Parts: sequence; C-alpha cells; structure tokens
Amino acid sequence: MGKNKPIFVCRECGYESNKWLGKCPSCGAWNSFVEYTERGNKGKREEFKFDASAPPTPLNRIDFKNVKRFKTGIGEFDRVLGGGIVPGAVILIGGEPGIGKSTILIQVANKLARKGINVLYSTSEESLQQVSLRANRTDSVSENILLSSEYSVNKIIQYAEKFKPGILIVDSIQTIYDEETDAQQGSVNSIKACTSKLIRFAKATNIPVFVVGHVTKGGIVAGPKILEHMVDAVIYLEGDSNHGYRVLRNAKNRYGSTDEIGLFEMHESGLIEVNDPSEIFLTKGGESISGTVLTATIEGSRPMLVEIQAIAAETKYGVPQRSVNGPDYKRVSTLIAVLEKRLHLFLGNQDIFLNVVGGLKIKDPGIDLAVLVAIYSSYSNKAIGKNMVFIGEVGLGGELRSIEGMKRRVEEAVRFGIKNIVIPRYIKEKIDDGRVNIIKCNNVNNVMEYLRNV
Ligand SMILES: Nc1ncnc2c1ncn2[C@@H]1O[C@H](COP(=O)(O)OP(=O)(O)OP(=O)(O)O)[C@@H](O)[C@H]1O
Ligand SMILES: [Mg+2]
Repeated sequence: MGKNKPIFVCRECGYESNKWLGKCPSCGAWNSFVEYTERGNKGKREEFKFDASAPPTPLNRIDFKNVKRFKTGIGEFDRVLGGGIVPGAVILIGGEPGIGKSTILIQVANKLARKGINVLYSTSEESLQQVSLRANRTDSVSENILLSSEYSVNKIIQYAEKFKPGILIVDSIQTIYDEETDAQQGSVNSIKACTSKLIRFAKATNIPVFVVGHVTKGGIVAGPKILEHMVDAVIYLEGDSNHGYRVLRNAKNRYGSTDEIGLFEMHESGLIEVNDPSEIFLTKGGESISGTVLTATIEGSRPMLVEIQAIAAETKYGVPQRSVNGPDYKRVSTLIAVLEKRLHLFLGNQDIFLNVVGGLKIKDPGIDLAVLVAIYSSYSNKAIGKNMVFIGEVGLGGELRSIEGMKRRVEEAVRFGIKNIVIPRYIKEKIDDGRVNIIKCNNVNNVMEYLRNV
C-alpha cells in the first residue's frame, strides 16, 4: 500500500482493509474501523542511538541464566506478572477511567524505589503536582522516583537513556505522541508508533516499561486491543464502582501463566493487598436466609469461598426478568433450564436475580451447583445453612461433574470451619473426609434429596 493512501484499521484487533467496513471480518466488532494514513516518517526514524538488532545467534549460545525477574514486593502484583518483572518486558496496564491504574503504578514505583531501583515516571495526563498529591496520599514519595511530564515519546526515551532508570512508567500511551510521524495524539497511528518505539527501547536496554492504556466503553480513543498484540504482557485492573475491591487480571503474558489474579482493596492510602480473599467475599455472621449459598471457586492457583445469592420471585408484569451479576449469563440460563427439566420446577413465571457477593466475575463452572441450589433455595423458600458448601459443574442431564482443584476447594472450605460439603461422586482426587462431612452426589436429584432430609 503506497504512502499517504488511507487504509482503515479495526481499533479492536488491528485488521486492515482498504475500505471502511461496518463490521470487522476478523473480530466481529461493529463500527470499529478508523482511518489510518501511512504518512512516512520524515526520514528521521533511525535516530536512536541504541541498536535492537543483532546478527543471528545459535539458540544454545544465548545466555538466559542472567535474566532475573525482579519482584516489586507487592505480592499480588508479582503474582499476576508470573513472579515478577522480566527485564526488557513491555507491560500494558489497562482499565476503565478512575479504576486505579496510576495508583497501583505509583505504589509499584515506590516499592522499587525503596529497594534502591530508580524509576522514571512519565506522566502526560496529570500535572506533576497531581501525581505528587497521589504519591503523598499513598505514602509513595521517594527521591529515587523521577517524575516527568513529557508528551513526546522521543523525549521520554531520551530521558530514560540519560537517567538509566531500573524501570520506566508511561502514563498513558493515549496522551503521548511521536512528532516524527505527525500522527494525531491518541490515534491508531500514534499509539502504534509510540508503542513500537518504547518496545525497541525496552528490548535494546533491558529496561522494563509499564504503559497505561485506557479502555473506554464507547471506544472513542483507539482501543488497547491493537497494543495487546505488540506488548509482552497485558494486565487489566478491574472492579466495580460500588465495591472497594479491585482485581488485577492477566490477559496475556509471554513469560508466565495468565490464570492468576491479584486482589486489592481501594483505600484512601491506596490499593491494599487482599491476602485472604475468602475473608472479603463472605458475609460474616447473620442468620441463614433462603437463596444464599456458599461455594468454593478457584482463581489462578488460589481457592476462595464465595457467596451466591439468588431471588426467585413471581413476575408481576409480563415477561420474567433475569438479572445476573457475577457468573456468566448464558450459564445461568442453562442452569435454570436444568432446574425446570430435571427438577420439574416451573420458573417461567419467576423473576430471577442472581449475584455473587462482592460483585466478583466468575467463569469457573465449579460454581454451577451453588447457583442452581441458590435459585432452588429462594424459589422454595428454604434456607441453606451457612455450614454447607456446594461444589461442582452441572451437566445438561443434571449430572454433577468434577472440576479442577477439588481438593484445594474442599480444604479452603474446611479452613473456614464448614462442616458439610456437597461434591460430585466421581472425582479424580482423593479427599480426606475425616474432619468434615463430604456428601457425594451423582446428580442434582441426589442433592435435592439430601437437602430435603437435613
Ligand atoms: N482520597 C481518596 N480516598 C479513597 N480513594 C481515593 C481517594 N482519592 C482517589 N481515590 C481512588 O482512586 C481512584 C483514582 O485512581 P487513579 O487516578 O489511580 O485511577 P486511574 O485508573 O489512573 O484513572 P485515570 O483513568 O483517570 O488515569 C478513584 O476512583 C478512587 O477510587
Ligand atoms: Mg491515571
């Protein structure tokens, strides 16, 4: 494609087309094409002093032993990165406005600074005073953190070459630009150009770079999806404006698993790690009420107890409502169908509301049984005791299936003093049932039989 000829790029996945398309044939996103013009780069491109390329080298001669991850000391953050920061890695931190991206990064900067690692924090979004205010509030002030409010990616790289920090933070990619490409700040061109320069810088110097990227619901600025392909790791900070906790989730990691999550709570003093997730997701004390059921889920390597709450109430007007917050909506619809077909409950005239306490989003099929029992419990107005936990995937035939990490889930329940645990009959692991009453069931009918008799 010749220079100056416009092409259209999907801002979700980076698919290129020579005409505008309403729907992306690659990722299916609607209205995601933006115009992208290859303008050339004023012939200045190779101005960097560093050289990222090297002649081909036999693989066995490449020294990998000296590559050492370094830990930030914020356990939940390191966990998500797969054990620490890999030198030369470019890590994108995405998240909705105001979720706490800058907060977590200033806290990471502070932890590293206190270990004697210099940090260059480049903010193009806020004034130096605003960053300083946050740093003071979160007790993250250190002379080892250098703040800059530079907009040009080339200047940022020049500063980084000059000060040789242990880590570079760019907050955010949408608000910096590359004057060598003429691209409009925040546009696809600009984001691509700035990111590739930062990547080349990171690879050549082995300095890890954290890049903040905004996720906007309306997708006004180029979405970080394009960035995701370019960088080494992508972590998202998620949360719910009604709850103080934040989840750090790994969407891509070239150097580690993407299963782990990090849990934090937002306080005035910043993001505080949550080391015992079950503690925050369980309601303490109180009487057992119908529709509330406990289960044990696994996020990454960590089991946690969560509370599922359901209300099934007769529909007053027209079509029954279904509102699901936490589990997957389609999964819940399937479980409602299983309740109707296998247990002969008539839910067609019931509004059903389902929540995971704390608003945690859970994809784990191991919570199926608890969701099903919660709806049943509310529908039949039968309270399930708080000393009971339900674990297992439910099949369309109503059969219970084993899921990953059964043993660890059971152990987590035991740790919280749960006395009765309902699980599928056939499980791979051997579970020690000396301390607790394990109820093994083949299908949902067995579970209901057990509930009728307790
Ligand atoms: N005094 C305070 N007490 C408690 N929480 C606060 C306080 N000040 C800020 N916060 C929290 O910090 C959040 C803002 O954090 P931060 O600026 O790090 O977010 P961000 O993701 O970087 O936002 P942006 O997208 O605007 O850059 C607020 O939404 C709020 O939850
Ligand atoms: Mg910010």
